[in-house]
Amino acid sequence: MNSAIETLAPYAFTALSQRKSALQSQGMELFDFGIGDPQDPTPAFIRQSLTDALQPESRYPTAAGLPELRQAIAGWFGRRFSVTLDPDVHVLPANGSKEALFNLGTALLDDPRRGPQAVGVPELAYQVYADSAWLHHAEVIHLPLGSDWLPDLSALTPEVLGRLRLLWLNYPNNPTGAVAPLSYYREALALAERWGFYVASDEAYSELWYDSPPTSLLQAGLGRAIAINTLSKRSNMTAYRSGVIAGDAQVVAALRGVRPRMGVATPEFIQRAAVAAWEDEAHVTAQRRRYAERRALLIDVLERKGLTVDASEATFYLWVRVPEWVEQRSSRQFAEWLLERGIVVLPGEFLGVRGATHVRLALVPPLETCQRAAEILDRVL
Ligand SMILES: Cc1ncc(COP(=O)(O)O)c(C=O)c1O
Repeated sequence: MNSAIETLAPYAFTALSQRKSALQSQGMELFDFGIGDPQDPTPAFIRQSLTDALQPESRYPTAAGLPELRQAIAGWFGRRFSVTLDPDVHVLPANGSKEALFNLGTALLDDPRRGPQAVGVPELAYQVYADSAWLHHAEVIHLPLGSDWLPDLSALTPEVLGRLRLLWLNYPNNPTGAVAPLSYYREALALAERWGFYVASDEAYSELWYDSPPTSLLQAGLGRAIAINTLSKRSNMTAYRSGVIAGDAQVVAALRGVRPRMGVATPEFIQRAAVAAWEDEAHVTAQRRRYAERRALLIDVLERKGLTVDASEATFYLWVRVPEWVEQRSSRQFAEWLLERGIVVLPGEFLGVRGATHVRLALVPPLETCQRAAEILDRVL
């Protein structure tokens, strides 16, 4: 057995779903802002592209994916970020972004017997970055977040930088909704160049913004940079498992070599649907509008009731500070208090100790559900 499995933190969402089921079986109606799984339909034209692509014969897909898909993704990066990618050199499709986040470790982390290696993970982060590092036998270095919710790069000492192989960033951020300026990406890549590590940027939420479109790591350069994106949030396609790995030519070449061995090739009918999704922006604009309405409604009630919504500039998350009157000001206590009143949120501490001051609301339920939840919050807070 891989001994690292025993040291993994329990998967936070399992505990939450058990607690929800228990309350629902008692007949309680729940308004679920707990999990970031979009609830709006996948646009009809994308579903149609999938069914149109179903063939009578079933053949193995390739891990490198259809040239049309790599082309569509490169085209999207060009239009969205003014970044020029060669579809054959800088782009690989992924089965959603989660497996890509996890499997990047296989390309970048070596046999630990060949020397110590560390992976930098923000102290508050999506669980997969640290899990992948652990299971690839690398040391996890938790980077403190500054008041801007960005990892403090100055906390990386020469001693750590000497063995750092990979630094994880995730902006727009889950759970805080914070965004990173291009200058920050430039700083991270300059450091990576100097010390010989890679920067991986999880950009799953890059398209869910309100005021101005967030930047990509790849705008700061392709060398030592890997951006991972997905159709899950942008196009409501979590079930399709369709994402992308883009950036550094050597990393993409290494992954292109090793991924066929992993069994992570995306079915071709999914790839055809993905081409349609990457080539259309109108549905993404419409989806942003839906989130903006829900966001305005909930921010309004929370702020009227004296709560503080921090960061939350992009993504479909609201990062809400635990009010003073909550026992020990604990995110778990506040989440439990809200749950007893039918509102499901995620305690920030599920995603790292630094999250203990906040709870996270995912604005995924439809507007009418958000309206009913807002009425409850108006009454109980
Ligand atoms: C920060 C972040 N990255 C990646 C993912 C995974 O997305 P995908 O559906 O592409 O695997 C999620 C899912 O919630 C996420 O929050």
